[in-house]
Amino acid sequence: MNSGIHLKKTKTDIDKNSIEEFNRLRKEKNAILLAHFYQVPEIQDLADFVGDSLGLSQEAFNTKANIIVFAGVHFMAETAKILNPGKKVLLPDTEAGCSLADSCPAGDFEKFKNNYPGYIVISYINCSAEVKALSDIICTSSNAVKIVESLPRDTKIIFAPDKNLGSYVNRITGRNMVLWEGSCEVHDIIKTEAVLKLKINHPEAKLIAHPECKAVILQMADFIGSTTALLNFTQRDSAKEFIVATETGILHQMKKSSPDKKFYVVPTDETCSCNDCPYMKLNTLPKLLNCLKNESPEIVLSPGLMEMARKPIIRMLELSK
Ligand code: 13P
Ligand code: SF4
Repeated sequence: MNSGIHLKKTKTDIDKNSIEEFNRLRKEKNAILLAHFYQVPEIQDLADFVGDSLGLSQEAFNTKANIIVFAGVHFMAETAKILNPGKKVLLPDTEAGCSLADSCPAGDFEKFKNNYPGYIVISYINCSAEVKALSDIICTSSNAVKIVESLPRDTKIIFAPDKNLGSYVNRITGRNMVLWEGSCEVHDIIKTEAVLKLKINHPEAKLIAHPECKAVILQMADFIGSTTALLNFTQRDSAKEFIVATETGILHQMKKSSPDKKFYVVPTDETCSCNDCPYMKLNTLPKLLNCLKNESPEIVLSPGLMEMARKPIIRMLELSK
């Protein structure tokens, strides 16, 4: 007889079960969960480490775990695998790519590079393993300036794939690096009008921006930095309100560490007050659980490619100490 009681599981029930089961498997399999700041809050809260691309690669390099579950996008999990060829690296959804990495196909980049003999290639970590293998040094948004400045002033440099980060580094360092014309669809779309509207509505707020944004946004910013640098700035600065020009996920840690401060993300359209990366947001708790349970999808790369891509990443890690 139908008692009338609805036994359908709610999202909260599913999430609670996924967390319990994930915790059990994480211990049993000696696994670690690494999550980027753009992940949904419930994944950030479950992670062993939450960070920016540099922090995540340092953590992946130093981990003693047997399995790395990467709650981020493909190039991040690939980097973790390159740093740990003997370990299992899992990515909950193989569709979690990156528009910036996709804007630089390795074959086209190799032809481009051949036009500049004698140039050093510095590639932003948001690129494929194949592009890393064509590079001399990898950088992230938190160490790009430092890495460029570690090279003599007259060094001829190609910077790929992000034109916005590349031109920002050119402005800061006074270099004239040749830039690959790539960009991130999430940051490149952030519009001046949307920022100005927020500035008018919140005149006391400071504008903080990720260097993947266009120059016009960066020129208006009070502070520019990687996700970790932006988070740290909101913690130490005396301002009580911030306009945040990057992906929405970072607001979780900002609000957690400064509950008395206000954060306004720059919307990409009139219908929402968010700016989500569609790739980062593909990861969910049930997908995380399934991938650890089945130990799949796994990142698999050829040993030769890993060896070639590893050198420029290790160079970055050494220069970042
Ligand atoms: P961060 O290294 O600053 O976390 O940047 C990663 C990223 O994908 C930005 O879009
Ligand atoms: Fe790639 Fe942009 Fe998403 Fe970062 S925010 S993962 S650069 S598409």
